[in-house]
Amino acid sequence: MSDIITATAHTNIALIKYWGKENVELNIPTTSSLSMTLDKFYTTTSVEFNSSLAQDTLILNEKEVDATRVHKFLNIFRSEVADFGPVLVISKNHVPTAAGLASSASSFAALTGAVSGLLDLNLLPTQMSRYARRGSGSASRSIFGNFVIWNKGEDDDSSYAESFLDADIEMSMIVAEVSTGAKKVSSTVGMQLAQSSPLYSKWQEDSAKQLENMKKALMSEDIEQVGLIAQDNALAMHELNRTSSQPFDYFTDETRALIEFVQNCYKEGLLAFVTIDAGPNVKIITNHATEQILLKKLKDNFPNLAFDLAHAGSGLVINA
Ligand code: PMV
Repeated sequence: MSDIITATAHTNIALIKYWGKENVELNIPTTSSLSMTLDKFYTTTSVEFNSSLAQDTLILNEKEVDATRVHKFLNIFRSEVADFGPVLVISKNHVPTAAGLASSASSFAALTGAVSGLLDLNLLPTQMSRYARRGSGSASRSIFGNFVIWNKGEDDDSSYAESFLDADIEMSMIVAEVSTGAKKVSSTVGMQLAQSSPLYSKWQEDSAKQLENMKKALMSEDIEQVGLIAQDNALAMHELNRTSSQPFDYFTDETRALIEFVQNCYKEGLLAFVTIDAGPNVKIITNHATEQILLKKLKDNFPNLAFDLAHAGSGLVINA
């Protein structure tokens, strides 16, 4: 066992979203979800025991930041595996900072890998996924590369992700960085509110059907179907927020303009679909053959926005 363990995990974007918790403490979801891991955005995290520290410490992008969430996460290992002293966590996020793209998936997946190395746990990837889920639900999927399914399960042992399709099917994602002045609703609060929507049980039923159709579309490498299903699933998720007991909306005018633009591109014959998470950024689904044409059109029409092009990426790597 070496003294410092480093792990790298990539972020992932759900094609079938996780948007609701059966168990808030354990992050057990109300629905299964399916994602694509991206090559472009990742987190690298190093951990070491450090007895000169008074408590767990997190250095993120070279600055010391609040370590409450990390401490809570490490305490899971302290109670389930063995007690240990303060840990120094040094993490670097390679995600576009200006748009505040969510990095909790790659962060908790990388931290899981680094900690399991530090503690010499020799975990199976699915066991790591289970731990990563406790840090942030979507992190359960970032343990794996390419296309990943998180079967909702029903308890702490049975809720984890696994590889669904470990192949690059020439799918591309263009991430539009929409700057936000809007007040951020955390995913935990957002989900809790969404579950109060009268549309919620219908969304759960639809999600189960969409998941089965998504699996078929991925297996047959039908990116048009993948995009259509992902878009329906995501737009319905945001409708839950608007119809909750305290309505809220992650979309900005720019989000709406991008959605309309992408949907018009599709009407004109281009492969182009949107998916959106807990913020205003728009991820555009297309394929390798169309990505440059679409990227140029987007840049021409939204000259103030930054766009990143991403493809399917790899799973967690731990290098001791
Ligand atoms: O893992 P969390 O708590 O950040 O939730 C992620 C929620 C979405 O990104 C909106 C959907 C998903 O499945 O990733």
